[in-house]
Amino acid sequence: MDGNGRWAKQRGKERLYGHIEGAESVRACCELAVEMGIGYLSLYAFSTENWNRPQDEVIGLMNLMAKSILEEKPTFEKNNIRFMVLGDRSHLSDELKRDIDKAMEETSGNTGLTLIVFLSYSGKWDIEQAARRYAEDYKSGKEGISFENYLCTAGIPDPDLLIRTSGEQRISNFLLWQCAYTEFYFTETLWPDFRKPQFRLAIETFASRERRFGKTSEQIK
Ligand code: FPP
Repeated sequence: MDGNGRWAKQRGKERLYGHIEGAESVRACCELAVEMGIGYLSLYAFSTENWNRPQDEVIGLMNLMAKSILEEKPTFEKNNIRFMVLGDRSHLSDELKRDIDKAMEETSGNTGLTLIVFLSYSGKWDIEQAARRYAEDYKSGKEGISFENYLCTAGIPDPDLLIRTSGEQRISNFLLWQCAYTEFYFTETLWPDFRKPQFRLAIETFASRERRFGKTSEQIK
């Protein structure tokens, strides 16, 4: 969800103003995902590297997360949304962890859209923590183990489409393992301007692509 800072700067405002407007885009994209019957929507909200941002921005973002979770809980219920937060929790405040756990628990039985917020997450962190746990189980002789089941995304399908806003064309440490066959969509639109029409266009563009997963066109017909 890139471009919040630039969006705010263009308007002579603080970066946090852009993040607050960005939260409105989150709401709009969730609405469209529900309307279109999309199974999973993952949002890269805060990377492990983002902890190095100015302290006031980090605190502002964490407060915005907590506020959004509390405010959106009725919407999760109304729209049958299963809410999840994935990432390295060790740096999160106890209060935020409690709010996250509560929202995850309360929505765990919902069967519509699964909304995943990646918070304090990085692909390298995930692969490292998975490798450590996998190696321990392997060493102790556990049989039938699969590496993928040790990633924090265990049980969640790999993404079909990855959208990156604001003209950047990098993966920036997001779902490194899981994006092996993901389609990429880059747009110049800054995240606060990325609303339903822009999301719909990204999905339509994705739908027109041929995915071969390493096979030939003939094989997948
Ligand atoms: C990157 O843009 C954006 C972030 C680090 C924060 C994203 C968070 C939100 C949109 C808040 C709402 C989220 C939820 C899940 C409720 P940037 O600041 O790097 O922008 P820039 O590249 O223009 O500086």
